[in-house]
Amino acid sequence: MSCSDESKDDFYVAYSSTPLEVVIPENFPEIQYDLDNNNITQEAFELGKMLFYEGKLSANNAIPCAFCHEQAFAFTHHGHNLSHGVNGGIGFRNAQPIQNMAFQMEFMWDGAASHLDLQPIIPITSALEMGETLSNVITKLKNDASYQYAFARAFENGEINSENMLKALSQFMVMMVSSNSKYDKYVRGEDDILLSDLELNGKNVFEQKCAGCHSTDLFTDHSYRNNGLPINPMLNDKGRFNVLEDPNDLYKFRVPSLRNVEVTFPYMHDGRFSTLEAVLNFYDSGMIDNGNVDDSLLREDGSYGISLTENEKESIIAFLKTLTDYEFLHDERFSEF
Ligand code: HEC
Ligand code: HEC
Repeated sequence: MSCSDESKDDFYVAYSSTPLEVVIPENFPEIQYDLDNNNITQEAFELGKMLFYEGKLSANNAIPCAFCHEQAFAFTHHGHNLSHGVNGGIGFRNAQPIQNMAFQMEFMWDGAASHLDLQPIIPITSALEMGETLSNVITKLKNDASYQYAFARAFENGEINSENMLKALSQFMVMMVSSNSKYDKYVRGEDDILLSDLELNGKNVFEQKCAGCHSTDLFTDHSYRNNGLPINPMLNDKGRFNVLEDPNDLYKFRVPSLRNVEVTFPYMHDGRFSTLEAVLNFYDSGMIDNGNVDDSLLREDGSYGISLTENEKESIIAFLKTLTDYEFLHDERFSEF
């Protein structure tokens, strides 16, 4: 079975489409991914999982998606402020978590990808990440008996091509819904879960001071904002500006979801803060006027920031920790083995 073109003669694999249901939590905003265009099935989901953990998607066959997206850390790159990929090349951004992708319309810190099915082309072909071409990836998969089998099972036309590969990766990511944190169970009134006084106080402060941007139960309004971070002169990452080259977008980044934020450190697009304490100290007293800071962050005294007492910081952190979803971080459906 070394040559792909003979594969169909070598064995017959029945196409099969066992439907899988995407969890749509009652406390979440509407799903954005068009499921009608890519019906989720057990077979394609499993293929997507194989691909997510597959080094062959990279030039040196050693950097799978999961290299930078580790489950225990809500699929972020643990211990790296900037992710590195093939040949040790250092990227210029902190890896984002992969969770609740079906509820998002744009992807990456600057929204450079506008469809989940197209997003993986960026890391696969980026010289600093996986450094491969789509056609080389497809050739490698065609020469691999386990993929000949898995594609034939997952897709009616059975073809090993980019479209099917990207659809399968999306199916895996669409299924990755994180919605069973302590907070979720509390708001949905499940299992008699209560929040402590400190956590409840944190929730109140968060709603007053943070939810203007980190809104809804996804904890993001999906907008691009400039939250007053000092510009890193080494990287000079202009954020959303890079996509549309609109001067109004300078240094704006997508408001990140704060789900599982306890384990997704380091924080911000360049991973500059390693703790939540450091993030809150920044909001309270580290913001600078970099020329385009969000109006809502202007204080009465003319400085930028969100004033927080020590007690408020402690409460917010306790609240943010209620967003950790241990079931998701250990869910075997998404694990390599
Ligand atoms: C070398 C590290 C690396 C590898 C390998 C990698 N990623 Fe990423 N991923 C990142 C970084 C860094 C970002 C943020 C990039 C940006 O904003 O420019 C990201 C962002 C994403 C996002 C956007 C999440 C969001 O909230 O918008 C998705 C989806 C994603 N990656 C999926 C994948 C898939 C699928 C693969 C494999 C085909 C992959 N990644 C391989 C580092 C990596
Ligand atoms: C004006 C909108 C806005 C407000 C208000 C705001 N944030 Fe943010 N927040 C952002 C943006 C934008 C980013 C990403 C910035 C970047 O990386 O360049 C961010 C990043 C973060 C991160 C890092 C998350 C990660 O995955 O790296 C945390 C944690 C955070 N905010 C918590 C808070 C808390 C707590 C408050 C209230 C005290 C708050 N934010 C108020 C817009 C806002």
